Amino acid sequence: MAKGLDVGTMNILSARQDGTETVFVQQRNSFVEIEYSDMAEQMLSRSEVLHIRKDDKVYVVGDDALNFANIFSEETRRPMQQGILSSEESSAIPMIKLITEQVVGEPSRPNERLYYSSPADPIDSEVSTLYHEKTLESMLGDMGYDPEPINEGMSVIYSELADRNFTGLGISFGAGMTNVCLAYYAVPVMKFSIARGGDWVDEQTAQATGTPVDKVTSVKEDDFELDFRTDVGGVEGALAIYYENLLDYVIENITREVDEEDIEEGLDVPVVVTGGTSSPDGFEDLFADHLEDARMPFSISGVHSPEEPMYSVASGALVAARSEEGETTEEGAEPDSGPQAEAEQ
Ligand SMILES: Nc1ncnc2c1ncn2[C@@H]1O[C@H](COP(=O)(O)OP(=O)(O)OP(=O)(O)O)[C@@H](O)[C@H]1O
Ligand SMILES: [Mg+2]
Repeated sequence: MAKGLDVGTMNILSARQDGTETVFVQQRNSFVEIEYSDMAEQMLSRSEVLHIRKDDKVYVVGDDALNFANIFSEETRRPMQQGILSSEESSAIPMIKLITEQVVGEPSRPNERLYYSSPADPIDSEVSTLYHEKTLESMLGDMGYDPEPINEGMSVIYSELADRNFTGLGISFGAGMTNVCLAYYAVPVMKFSIARGGDWVDEQTAQATGTPVDKVTSVKEDDFELDFRTDVGGVEGALAIYYENLLDYVIENITREVDEEDIEEGLDVPVVVTGGTSSPDGFEDLFADHLEDARMPFSISGVHSPEEPMYSVASGALVAARSEEGETTEEGAEPDSGPQAEAEQ
């Protein structure tokens, strides 16, 4: 057995194989600190809410954090910011540990192989991902796993481009970042991240319209579509403007980073756009339109967005972990069309 784990700024997800099915477990990567009280005690003891008590404080983590934040008039806090562990959150590590333990569970055997997603270094910010990646590695090792980082963009290639020989451009539009990876027969030839994603869209929209960020996020996640039929002036109009700006910024950076020599002459490159931020209807078409207008040094065979954009990264990490296991398992019990197998052909 092996597992995949997507450690994201907003969501932490695990993936494991159960027969022919892939099983996902998901929690929000957020928490709230509330004062310990009889009322809190009662609410927590009667439910399955994920929490820990420390002295006179209680920390509610994961999906329930938001409910408790509303009831107790507190703000939710996040262990990660812009794709990596937050340097401004002193409780980041214990909180992310608690959420991850719940999402990934115990290893099914000692030193079970676990591939966890890690972003590439951003090209538009000074931050380094090394500390984040190493901290997660030691945390997962302490839980009894044998962890291995996998680039977030590469995970997208593993999950969505198996039928294209793991060749193409994978883009994960997350909350804190956008991760880009170009791979050729399962070998990454270019990878980078951009320190903008859904959070950036929310913050810009909130500022422009004078709306609280949480309100903007819920409008965006509820029924927002990129159809450009909404009137200018409201939250949805502003969201559309910043969405379009994010796409252009990402495309501009890809155009700048891609090296023509990376691509075999005559190859039409398939593009996959995924991640929570790619969810709204119209995103795929808008991205394809803007890509067409860009001066890319190679031709694009098409832009595709998966049915379940939130699952791509965890699922790709699982594919990578299983295919590595398959290599070392006799009788090839694991997938025979995994990336390694393809790459050798
Ligand atoms: N239906 C939806 N419509 C629009 N945006 C959505 C929708 N559902 C989720 N999002 C946004 O997607 C983002 C979360 O996506 P995802 O889980 O892929 O990010 P993450 O992996 O946690 O972050 P990162 O990869 O940047 O560290 C958030 O900005 C969230 O608001
Ligand atoms: Mg992500």
